[in-house]
Amino acid sequence: MSKITRRTCMTLALAAAAGGCAEFDPIFGALTPGPASDSLNGLAKAKGLRFGSCLGTGPSSAPGGAADRRGSQFDDANLRTLMTSQCGMLVPENELKWYSLRKSPTTFDFRRADKLVDFAEANGMAIRGHTLLWNRAQWFPDWVANYDFGPTPRAEAERMLRRHIETVCGRYGKRIFAYDVINETVMPETGELAETVFTKYLGPDVVDIAFHTAREAAPHAQLVYNDYMGWEPGGGKHRAGVLKLLERMKKNDVPVDALGVQSHIGSNNNPGGAPGFAEARETEWRKFLDEVVGMNLDLVVTEFDVHDKDVPGDIPTRDRAVADLGRAYLDLMLSYPRLRYVMAWGLVDKYSWLQNRPPRADGLPKRPCPYDENYRPKLLREAVANAFRAAPTRPSMKAG
Ligand code: GLA
Repeated sequence: MSKITRRTCMTLALAAAAGGCAEFDPIFGALTPGPASDSLNGLAKAKGLRFGSCLGTGPSSAPGGAADRRGSQFDDANLRTLMTSQCGMLVPENELKWYSLRKSPTTFDFRRADKLVDFAEANGMAIRGHTLLWNRAQWFPDWVANYDFGPTPRAEAERMLRRHIETVCGRYGKRIFAYDVINETVMPETGELAETVFTKYLGPDVVDIAFHTAREAAPHAQLVYNDYMGWEPGGGKHRAGVLKLLERMKKNDVPVDALGVQSHIGSNNNPGGAPGFAEARETEWRKFLDEVVGMNLDLVVTEFDVHDKDVPGDIPTRDRAVADLGRAYLDLMLSYPRLRYVMAWGLVDKYSWLQNRPPRADGLPKRPCPYDENYRPKLLREAVANAFRAAPTRPSMKAG
């Protein structure tokens, strides 16, 4: 089958699930039989959706990042069991980022990423690749800033970017069904592209080059632009910048299939109680999503969690507020038929990245995930389950 036909089939599989293209149904093909029908993935699957989570292999090696206070998720057998019993999909939390893979300009270290890919595959989970290019200067390994791009820096930057994408996609082939080709390259304050060595030498073409290279290297894969623009009233510049980027991509025939909506909601980011929030959510946010799907793009919830840093009260009160906000958010997102799967950014509170962020005033651990530190389901788990139960069946997918 030619590349064009494959791509067409994937689009159909994602948007229309047409018969005869089953071998290119990247999400659903790998998932038989999958977790039980009352699992989060099972409930999602009954509506033609899927559910998954990130998983990490140990302390993050993010450059200049805060100390990672969490233990190793992958070494926790209870967490692994929860993953396999609830999730149909897995995304490596940090293991495919440049700072994890690229300790030097000439090397790739796939050991941690391989562990997760092997685990997901052995347990029938579909795998997302996050991310081929996190185009923010602070998230590259230090050597990138000091690299000598030589007398033809544009050509060298392009060569480096292509080689990275080709190497990652080449290693995993069809084992990875979707890539966040670029993560977070729009600055929320200005709506413009972030300044990095790649934008310095390639300008906005960095986006085109990354997506074209990914399409060539992984023709089967869903290609996603992923960012954290959200529904908060003050987020207009970020949303406008993302729309501008997507419009440019469509105009230039850049092969983008979906917008990844990270969905880190709650305190600090998209605070539910902010003035004007309810109006912004129903007007600005829907308008934004309408424009995205109007460009013939799918939507993906890629990193869902609910930050309770500023939510006061005892634990039942906090958990209720987190669940209510999460439910309202997912109901809105799931009202879009082009949203086909939801990824949580962690299943269990104690492993959430938010434990490494500024603490709550009362010093208590945060509770942003569907399960508590003892792997017990919380109200947020029920909210996610109920959002799937209430979701419209994806029109063109067979349920079940
Ligand atoms: C962003 C990135 C994720 C992750 C979170 C915080 O959303 O896309 O990979 O690093 O921040 O952990």
